[in-house]
Amino acid sequence: MSTINQSGTFTLGNRTVKRLGYGAMQLAGPGVFGPPRDRDAALAVLREAVAFGVNHIDTSDFYGPHVTNRLIREALAPYPDDLVIVTKIGARRGEDGSWLPAFSPEALTQAVHDNLRNLGLDVLEVVNLRIMFSVHGPAEGSIEAPLTVVAELQRRGLVRHIGLSNVTPAQVAEGRRICEIVCVQNQYNLAHRTDDALIDDLARDAIAYVPFFPLGGFNPLQSSTLSDVAARLGATPMRVALAWLLRRAPNILLIPGTSSVAHLQENLAAAELDLPEDALVALDGIAASADCA
Ligand SMILES: NC(=O)c1ccc[n+]([C@@H]2O[C@H](COP(=O)([O-])OP(=O)(O)OC[C@H]3O[C@@H](n4cnc5c(N)ncnc54)[C@H](OP(=O)(O)O)[C@@H]3O)[C@@H](O)[C@H]2O)c1
Repeated sequence: MSTINQSGTFTLGNRTVKRLGYGAMQLAGPGVFGPPRDRDAALAVLREAVAFGVNHIDTSDFYGPHVTNRLIREALAPYPDDLVIVTKIGARRGEDGSWLPAFSPEALTQAVHDNLRNLGLDVLEVVNLRIMFSVHGPAEGSIEAPLTVVAELQRRGLVRHIGLSNVTPAQVAEGRRICEIVCVQNQYNLAHRTDDALIDDLARDAIAYVPFFPLGGFNPLQSSTLSDVAARLGATPMRVALAWLLRRAPNILLIPGTSSVAHLQENLAAAELDLPEDALVALDGIAASADCA
């Protein structure tokens, strides 16, 4: 049995999840487009994640598109009672695999129905509205129109809780005036710390912060400081990077992505890694230095 219980728990919406979860995006084909190279391996990763105790899985119907949701359903349905599947809407894929905004009321409503059907659920536990105002990251602009549509889908009983993704602090504040926001999913890791203040603000209000690219994304983090700390602790750099995130704030929920059972095991082992004070100081310095690729 794995030790992921040591990661602790957090209340997401009205469900308790372990702070170490799993992100399913890496299970689709190259470029998150099309089917996986090895379908059986993808199904095995999902089953192992749950067997190791994961009860929070992040996905979207635009991974593939439809691929990861269908894999999740095939691997895991009927779902364990404690499993919380979080999905996101607001984008669609072009014929060439491009990522396109999909914010019209019709597109958002269709996306909720697609997620329900492909996951085999009657209600989506948490839906993140993924903002797509810029390809380079969060960009200012009102989110009222699309968020009001998602709030209406919540009133209709298709969505239980709402989150936001790829948003600025001003958009989080605007969103919270429109409906209850239970989580924010933005890019954040040892080397990319734009959201430091936002994380602390959300922690004060018991709102989850779920970093995407916790390991650096498609090009995993490389830093000599991270490697040195990992060597000193007898751990791998990825495990240390996740352990640092768990220590960073109590409202951080991890969804590292992998297509490999071996990497999954390594990542979940972050829960039991204790980071001594001098390691924390060294890791905290990475973002400010140029020591990261
Ligand atoms: N809201 C958004 O806009 C958004 C955007 C991106 C992602 N997400 C979500 O966030 C989740 C996490 O992000 P991510 O999967 O893109 O990036 P990530 O977790 O930072 O890193 C995934 C990459 O790291 C590799 N990796 C994982 N574990 C490893 C290990 N122990 N050792 C070495 N390499 C390892 C993976 O390759 P292998 O497959 O070979 O392990 C993959 O290339 C996604 O799965 C998705 O659910 C959300």
